[in-house]
Amino acid sequence: MKLGTPLTASATKVMLLGSGELGKEVIIALQRFGVEVIAVDRYANAPGQQVAHRAYTIDMTDADALKALVATEKPHFIVPEIEALNTDALADIENSGTATVIPTVRAVQLTMNREGIRRLAAEELNLPVSPYAFARSEAELQAAIDSGIGYPCFIKPTMSSSGKGQSRITQASQVKAAWDYAATGGRVNQGVVIVEGQIDFDYEITLLTVRAKNAQGEAQTYFCEPIGHVQKNGDYVESWQPQAMTANALKASQHIAKTITDSLGGFGLFGVELFVKNDQVWFSEVSPRPHDTGMVTMCSQRLSEFELHARAILGLPVDVTMTQTGASAVIYGGVDSQNLSYEGLEAALSVPSSDIRLFGKPESFARRRMGVALATGKDSDEARSRAKQAASLVKPAER
Ligand SMILES: Nc1ncnc2c1ncn2[C@@H]1O[C@H](COP(=O)(O)OP(=O)(O)OP(=O)(O)O)[C@@H](O)[C@H]1O
Ligand SMILES: [Mg+2]
Repeated sequence: MKLGTPLTASATKVMLLGSGELGKEVIIALQRFGVEVIAVDRYANAPGQQVAHRAYTIDMTDADALKALVATEKPHFIVPEIEALNTDALADIENSGTATVIPTVRAVQLTMNREGIRRLAAEELNLPVSPYAFARSEAELQAAIDSGIGYPCFIKPTMSSSGKGQSRITQASQVKAAWDYAATGGRVNQGVVIVEGQIDFDYEITLLTVRAKNAQGEAQTYFCEPIGHVQKNGDYVESWQPQAMTANALKASQHIAKTITDSLGGFGLFGVELFVKNDQVWFSEVSPRPHDTGMVTMCSQRLSEFELHARAILGLPVDVTMTQTGASAVIYGGVDSQNLSYEGLEAALSVPSSDIRLFGKPESFARRRMGVALATGKDSDEARSRAKQAASLVKPAER
C-alpha cells in the first residue's frame, strides 16, 4: 500500500458518508496517516466535517447528488458511516471501478435492512437467532405473534437504527400501538416490520471483528475482547471491555462473528451484536463499521476501533490488543438547544483515569448523544462507576 500527500495529485482520498461522532474519530485516524478526507453529512457542521479537509452537506439518499459528488471528488475509498444511503448509487460507483466501498456494497445493502441481514444470518448461514417474522400489516403482525412468536416480543421497522420505531410488548392490547410506531418510525421503506421473540439473555455483547490484510497481504479476521453494554429504549447508554464470558460462549461468539463477516466480505471493522446466556449465543445484528458501544476502545485498546477501521481500509496491519479494562458512558444533551455549552469538565476530568469526548454537534436534543465519558479501572465495575460518574458531572445547558 502506497499513501500519498494530502492536497496534492498523489493524495490518498477517503470520503465518509455520514460524519457523526464515529466518523469524526475515523477521520482523525485517517488524518494521522496523511490521508485526504472528505466528510459528507445531511446537515452542516456535523462532527466529522469539523476535522476533515473538505465538507459537503447533501441528501445521501439522492442517487444523483451522491454520484455527482463522487465524480467531483474522485475518492479512492468510500466509507459509509450511516445506513440511510442510496445503495444503488454506491453499486454503480463500485461497478464503474472508480472507488472501493467499505467493506463492500453488498454488506452495506444487506445490513441497512433488517430483513436482508436476518435472512442471510438465519436462512443461509444457519446462525442461531431469535424467533422472527416479517409483517406488512397489523393483521399480519398479530398473526405472526399468535402463530408462535408469542410475548414478550420486539417490533422494529426493518429500516431503522438506535431503537427508532422499536417497541417491546407483552400483550395483545399493545400490538396496534407497536405497529403504528414501527410503521411510521422507520426510514425509506415504511410499512415492513420485523417481530422478534424475546431472548432471555444474561448479557449482551458487541464483538468488534476486523477483516484486515495480514503480512502476506491476505484477508485475516481479528477479534477484539468482547464489549458488554447496557441499552435503554434500543440505544446504548454504557459499555465496558472486557465482558467476562465462559470459554464456550466466547468460542461460539467468535464463530458467529467470523461466519457473518466472511459472508459480508471486504476490509474494515464490524460490530457484531450478540446475546449470551451461559454457553449459548444468538446473533442479533451487525454493523459493517465502528459501533457506538465500541467507543470504550478509545481508552481500553492500543488501537481504538476507529484506528483499526482506518488501518483495515488502507490495507495496513492491525493490532487488537486490549491494554486496560475500560468503560464508556454517554453524555446526553438534556435540553433542545442550538447554543449548548458544557460545564463541570473540571470535576469530570478529576475522576481518576477519566477522559471526555465532546462531539461538537451543532444542535442538541434532550436524548441526543452529545459526548461520552471514558475511564479505566482495575476491573469493569471500577471502570464503569468512574465513567458514569464523569459523565454525570458534565453539565450541558443553554447559557
Ligand atoms: N429479540 C430480542 N430479545 C431480547 N432483547 C432484544 C431483542 N431485540 C432487541 N433487543 C434489545 O434491544 C436492543 C436494541 O435492538 P437492536 O440492536 O435490534 O436495535 P437498533 O435500533 O439496531 O439499535 P442500535 O442501532 O443501537 O444497535 C438490543 O441491544 C437488546 O438490548
Ligand atoms: Mg443494535
